[in-house]
Amino acid sequence: MKKVRIALTKGRLEEHAVEIFKSIGADITELEDKGRKLIFKSENEQFNIDFFLVKAPDVTTYVEYGSADIGIVGKDTLMEKNKEFYEVLDLKVGKCRFALAALPDFNLDEGYNRKKIATKYPEVAREFFRTKGLDIEIIKIEGSVELAPIVGLADAIVDIVETGSTLKENGLIIVEEICPISARMIVNKASMKTKKEEIGKIIEEISKVIS
Ligand code: PRP
Repeated sequence: MKKVRIALTKGRLEEHAVEIFKSIGADITELEDKGRKLIFKSENEQFNIDFFLVKAPDVTTYVEYGSADIGIVGKDTLMEKNKEFYEVLDLKVGKCRFALAALPDFNLDEGYNRKKIATKYPEVAREFFRTKGLDIEIIKIEGSVELAPIVGLADAIVDIVETGSTLKENGLIIVEEICPISARMIVNKASMKTKKEEIGKIIEEISKVIS
């Protein structure tokens, strides 16, 4: 059995991903007791896997370069990237959505000045406004994007909304929903051929547990 290397996204999606691998019968003992390790071995009669835990954009990098055969990452991250890998499964966990949000007095169609949009996701925001035929200015922010309209850095934000509590607690409202997001499985193009059997089995078993 060839070893399969799987890059998991640290943080919110981590628990969902570990749960999925547990439910297909992979050994997740090392993933449950992480310490400062970077590689987590998982070997039993059914699966031979090395898991890595990395930040979301790095999942796609490891998979693109083939240092990981499989990646588990949010659709939000994939939408910002060129797709040099196969997106094979919607894992139906980590569900949230992209939305345009602002203070209640914001009006997208009002005023002559270009609207300033703060976001961690410039490609998603650009594409959303391109389909609307609106010329806007993107301000790239790395986190806590909700702050931007409150302190006057931007007129509105394009960001992820999960429970909606961050917006609510900061007095912002959803102006328009953009699209739903969930965790996806991606596979390196070459690995799909060279580890066809092992990767095929993982896809098949995960498909069963998510359906
Ligand atoms: C994300 C997102 C929102 C928040 C939405 O940020 O950017 O800020 O979660 O979640 P909610 O609708 O459940 O309140 P994250 O916590 O990942 O951190 P960040 O703001 O530093 O990007």
